[in-house]
Amino acid sequence: MSSSAGLAETEHEYTRIKVTPLAGALGAEISGVDLANLDDASFEEIHRAWLDYHVIYVRRQEMTPEDHLAFARRWGEIHIHPFNAPMDGYPEILQLLKTEDSRRNNGNLWHSDQMYTAQPAKATILIAREMPPFGGDTMFTNQYLAYETLSDGMKEMVGKLKGVNDGNSRKNFRGKTRAELAKSGQATTPQKEPDPDVQTVSVHPLVRTHPETGRKALYVGSHTVRIDGMTDDESQPILQTLMEHSTRPEFICRVRWEVGTLTMWDNRCCQHYALNDYQGVRRCVHKITVKGDTPF
Ligand SMILES: [Fe+2]
Repeated sequence: MSSSAGLAETEHEYTRIKVTPLAGALGAEISGVDLANLDDASFEEIHRAWLDYHVIYVRRQEMTPEDHLAFARRWGEIHIHPFNAPMDGYPEILQLLKTEDSRRNNGNLWHSDQMYTAQPAKATILIAREMPPFGGDTMFTNQYLAYETLSDGMKEMVGKLKGVNDGNSRKNFRGKTRAELAKSGQATTPQKEPDPDVQTVSVHPLVRTHPETGRKALYVGSHTVRIDGMTDDESQPILQTLMEHSTRPEFICRVRWEVGTLTMWDNRCCQHYALNDYQGVRRCVHKITVKGDTPF
């Protein structure tokens, strides 16, 4: 594939679903499906489209939390967030709510979900429950493209490096830990103490191989605080270069939500960023993450 081409090398044919690409780099709308009543053949095509487009969304889905969970379980075991407390009555679902009074939102920085755990979430599946009339979009980047468009010299260098990913880094929480932020009343989601056996700092390759497609992708995000074996000062210029490169406008798509939009992305080859461009209105999404494997 050429460095300017965005989407996957293979164009697959879809017979049971309609796939409408969103942008040159990644993203597609899937239509013609009811995710709460999905046959296996349609599920297989959705899986294929997810691997091809990395971010897929389906509008006007009427799904209860149980439907949402049942759909998520088709992709694998549910990944439990180490720090964010679950929604009442649903230990596997997070409610991300911004109220009329909250100024900050969740996920307002480029990142890949839970990349600080030993086996980070492969998929994130969000359904919109309440939405502002405009604003509150989510942006995504294609990290395959980010890797493929590096120079040969940079590819060779970063291909040997590992990132240290910290889920509780003060740099991401305005100089505080998550607990300190919660104590000061500024957390964007209810917090909990992580289980002692859950790893919240993890070292992963900066270039990972996608276990399903075999393609290489940059694996960097705001949770990446340092390069393994380097000092902070040595790490920062490299990480900053990679983050700026990864988030070039040509590598991005932007999903606009409506109530009932379900969006699902592949954290193994995407970063995402939740825009905080709406104030004084409520926005609520339900989030489920699916366990992945150890990055290699
Ligand atoms: Fe996220």
